[in-house]
Amino acid sequence: MRVRGKNYTAVWMKGPTVYMIDQRLLPHQFRVAVLKSYHQTAEAIKQMTVRGAGSIGAAAGFGAAQVVLSAPQKGFTPYIKKGFEILRKTRPTAQDLFYAVDRVAEAVKKTKNLCEAKKAAVAAAKAISDQYVASGEAVGKTGAKLIKNNFRILTHCNAGWLALQDWGSALAPVYAAHRAGKKVFVYADETRPRLQGAKLTAWELKEEGVPFAIIADNAAGHYMRKGLIDMVIVGADRIAINGDAANKIGTYEKAVLARENNIPFYVAAPTSTIDSACSTGNAIPIEERPEDEVLTISGRTKTGTIATVAVAPAGCRAGNPAFDITPAKYITAIITEKGVFKPDSIASLIAGKRRIN
Ligand code: MRU
Repeated sequence: MRVRGKNYTAVWMKGPTVYMIDQRLLPHQFRVAVLKSYHQTAEAIKQMTVRGAGSIGAAAGFGAAQVVLSAPQKGFTPYIKKGFEILRKTRPTAQDLFYAVDRVAEAVKKTKNLCEAKKAAVAAAKAISDQYVASGEAVGKTGAKLIKNNFRILTHCNAGWLALQDWGSALAPVYAAHRAGKKVFVYADETRPRLQGAKLTAWELKEEGVPFAIIADNAAGHYMRKGLIDMVIVGADRIAINGDAANKIGTYEKAVLARENNIPFYVAAPTSTIDSACSTGNAIPIEERPEDEVLTISGRTKTGTIATVAVAPAGCRAGNPAFDITPAKYITAIITEKGVFKPDSIASLIAGKRRIN
C-alpha cells in the first residue's frame, strides 16, 4: 500500500523489532506502533492495533520470531512453547494467526542449534508476510475478472490493504479492477461496533481513488432490493472444509439478503484461512469482545482530538460477538490465490494439510 508517497505493509519487522500501522487511530491519525518484545506484539494483536485475518497472521509470525530471538540457550523449548501459547491466545477466530505461529514453530523444529533456530524463525515470518502480499495480489487478479464495468459492490468490515498486509482479500479484486480502468462503485458497510468499514475501508478507498459511499449496517437490504448492488464481496477469518465461512459480525445477514435478491455473494481469502480441523462452521470459535465496544463510539471531535462517548444509558449490558458464520449454501464462490472455487470443493485445496498444534 502507498501512503504519503511511501510503500507500507500493515506489519513489518526490522531486526528484533516489529512495526505496525496503528489501525485504532485511522483514519484520523497515521502512526506506526513500535513493538520491541513478543509480549508487546501479542498485546497489539489483542488490542487490535493490527487487525484483519492476514495482517494478524503476519503479526503473529513476526511475534513468534521475536519469541525465538529472545529465547535462552538453556530452557529454549519450554520458553518458545510458552511464547507461542501467549500469541495463540490473543484472538481466537482468525485461522491465519494459528497458521503463522505453527509455520514458525515448524521451521524452528528443523534446526540444530540456537543460531540456526533464530535465523529460521525470522526467515519463516518474513516468508509468511511475503506470501500474504502475493496471495492478495493473486486474489485481486482472479477476482477482478468477476467484476464488470460499472459494477456496484457491497463489502463488509475491512478486508483490504490493512487486513492482508497489502492488496487485501475482498478489496483486492476492487483495486485490480479499478487499476485496470473498470468503473466500480463500493458500498462500504460501516461495521459496528468498531466501524472498520467507516474508518478503515473508507480510508483505503479514498487513498486509492475508488468512488464509494459508507452505508449504515442495516441499509444493505434496502440497496439490494432497489437493484443498486451487483455483487457482494467479503473476506473471511476462517473457512471450514465444508465451505462455511466466519467473517465479521453482520456478514451472515448480508449473505441471506443477497440470496433473497439474487445477488452473487463472494468470499475472498487466501488458502491459509482454510482450517482442516473444522469440518463445519459450528467448530469455528467465535470471539466475544468487551461490552464497551457496543456501548460506546469513538471518533474525532471538532477540535481534532479522538474521543470515546457513551451511546447507551449507564449500566447497560451488551452482547458483542465479533464474528458470525455464513453457511456455505449462501456463498456463490470463494476467491483464493489458486482460483475461484465453489464452497463445497474448497477442501480439495488443502488435501493433506494438517494443523500442527
Ligand atoms: O475484528 P477484525 O477487524 O480483525 O475482523 C476482520 C474481518 O472480519 C475481515 O473481514 C477478515 O479478517 C478478512 S480480511 C483478510
